[in-house]
Amino acid sequence: MTTPRPTIEQQYADARPKSKALYERARAAMPSGAAHDGRYFAPFPFYVERAEGARKWDVDGHEYLDCWSGHGALMLGHKHPAVVKAITDQAQKGLHYSAGSELEVRWAELVRSIVPGAERVRFTLTGTETTSLAVRVARAFTGRDYIIKFESHFHGVHDAFVAAVKDPFEIPASAGVPASTLSTTLVAPCNDIDHVRELLEDHQVAAIILEPAGGRSMTVPTNPKFLKELREETRRRGVVLIFDEVVTGFRMAAGGAQEYFGVTADLTCLAKAVAGGLPGAALTGRADIMDMIAFTGDAKRDRTRRVADQGTYSGTPLVAAAAVAQLEILKTGEVQRELNRKGDRLRAGMNQTLKTRGVRGCVYGASSMFRVFLGADAAELGLEDWTMDAARLDRGMGGKLAGALHLALLVNGVDISRGNSNGWMNGAMTDKDIDQIVDAFDRSIVRLQEDRLLA
Ligand SMILES: Cc1ncc(COP(=O)(O)O)c(C=O)c1O
Repeated sequence: MTTPRPTIEQQYADARPKSKALYERARAAMPSGAAHDGRYFAPFPFYVERAEGARKWDVDGHEYLDCWSGHGALMLGHKHPAVVKAITDQAQKGLHYSAGSELEVRWAELVRSIVPGAERVRFTLTGTETTSLAVRVARAFTGRDYIIKFESHFHGVHDAFVAAVKDPFEIPASAGVPASTLSTTLVAPCNDIDHVRELLEDHQVAAIILEPAGGRSMTVPTNPKFLKELREETRRRGVVLIFDEVVTGFRMAAGGAQEYFGVTADLTCLAKAVAGGLPGAALTGRADIMDMIAFTGDAKRDRTRRVADQGTYSGTPLVAAAAVAQLEILKTGEVQRELNRKGDRLRAGMNQTLKTRGVRGCVYGASSMFRVFLGADAAELGLEDWTMDAARLDRGMGGKLAGALHLALLVNGVDISRGNSNGWMNGAMTDKDIDQIVDAFDRSIVRLQEDRLLA
């Protein structure tokens, strides 16, 4: 009698006894045994022991090509020697001075010189904190309350932005947020300028915020024409245009999506790559808006009209050291140009696999970001002529198939972000690594076909 073949889930679990044991310990100590919603998955997440370059290794000895790249922060890959040296040197000199440092000033100067429209820089700690500060600054500057965000766009987890992050868009992404808090957050469909114009007519809008390349890292791509229309509309009406470049900043080009698309926002939210892989972020943009945070010496204005902002860990020297080391390398745009070429190569290779295996689906995105959709091709999804249905793109291929693809890729040595079936590449990836990812994708697709998960 032949033993039945293990399911992909069994195969994943059976090969990872140490991760399973760690997960049991973690589950007792942390909700779902994880520190981040996106890192939790069934049957249990794997635990990593070390990482280097484009790869990481789990506690059971499995090697993965890392298409998460530190949630997108590690533009140069793991353990880049210049970043590691900067951190190690700085650790010898102190972690926190309760004061500024020359490194912090250099960091701000680098951001100013690289990012379009960056006249002033305020360091923060996370993307969430930064988008929250951007909204506060925009409201104080305009004296208006409403903000517009778009369906599927993610701006961190603070209260004002839990609206319309995930399909079904009418249900907030999190419990625990009063409806009154969301009453000043207006939601617009992606790429629909007429809808935006109506909202602007009917409400006192302080700011429009969006991920310039598309909602949730290009899961729902933005039409570049729409970006230009938004820029014109906001400029005409004195509405602050905020680009959330937490993912795209320093990635799509040295100057991020703004350089890539040729559109400059009023305020830009930066995190991830801005801090070299350590926790750090920045709000930057027009001096007249950013200076809402500045002390003027006018006691009355500073007490009543100034935007207050402070964070224990903002701009600290260890983070500044990592950030400066990474940005000194990223500033020329050479890493990004090469990575964008590799991104094209990766998407083309994965799409060729789908074609060869006769699977309806597509791998889309731009620059060094990719997203896998199985079950419909690019034309059916409206990706080719910008007629897409954001909810369908957002839902993706369904939890069961997305989960199986993720596990199959892990079994074949590649890690992607399961939530959106997407990935971010890093500068340590070689053309050979790209071929290896394509090969792993091919084996994973074949496995899904054998398991009758694909039509
Ligand atoms: C576009 C975007 N904005 C904001 C955030 C929140 O950043 P953080 O996780 O640093 O709070 C993220 C996180 O992934 C993001 O992708």
